[in-house]
Amino acid sequence: MPRLTSPDVRFHASFLAAVREFTETDLDAAALLGEDVGVYARTWEEPEGFAALVDMLLAETERPRRPDWVEMTNLWWAEDDTFLGRLSIRHRLSPYLLEFGGHIGYAVRPGARRRGQATAMLGAALPLCRHLGIDRALVTCDTDNIASRKVIEANGGEFEDQRGGKLRYWIRTGN
Ligand SMILES: CC(C)(COP(=O)(O)OP(=O)(O)OC[C@H]1O[C@@H](n2cnc3c(N)ncnc32)[C@H](O)[C@@H]1OP(=O)(O)O)[C@@H](O)C(=O)NCCC(=O)NCCS
Repeated sequence: MPRLTSPDVRFHASFLAAVREFTETDLDAAALLGEDVGVYARTWEEPEGFAALVDMLLAETERPRRPDWVEMTNLWWAEDDTFLGRLSIRHRLSPYLLEFGGHIGYAVRPGARRRGQATAMLGAALPLCRHLGIDRALVTCDTDNIASRKVIEANGGEFEDQRGGKLRYWIRTGN
């Protein structure tokens, strides 16, 4: 059974395979980890470079990678040592996140899509959001992102409105 787990160097080989799936399908590898990973993409083939990426992701609970970002918990969705996707929980909403970004961002590697992974991954994140003090999680997606919309709605997303090309949903993280 796949589960959410902390980034770890043991996923190195599988992570690189996932990156290749993104580049081979012409998808932006930034979707894998969010923006601003360029510096790590230059070195993540090497064990030291990958370890630096993992360290940065783990430290982001206290040290956001950019000054305008909030603290977040970065998690990987994995089965054994196979990396399937990633999910990040932003601990609070900045004005930008409240309008567009939301609390949670996620992506599934191309080779693992359309098998319910994202739906299960978002569901698994909700108790963790609750634990972080987020009673209602804002989750957004592009208006034309049908897959993500289904993922959000399958997890109880209540549609609020559309802002700047984003659909905004709230999900209760507990009873
Ligand atoms: C969006 C994304 C996370 C979905 O991952 P996934 O594991 O394929 O999603 P699921 O298998 O849980 O599919 C959920 C639903 O979307 C549907 N779906 C999946 N991909 C689809 C596609 N390309 N077009 C239409 N529907 C699609 C599935 O059939 C399923 O529908 P169902 O509930 O009616 O059966 C994945 O496509 C992705 O990583 N995209 C790039 C990053 C991204 O958009 N992240 C979300 C940001 S808000």
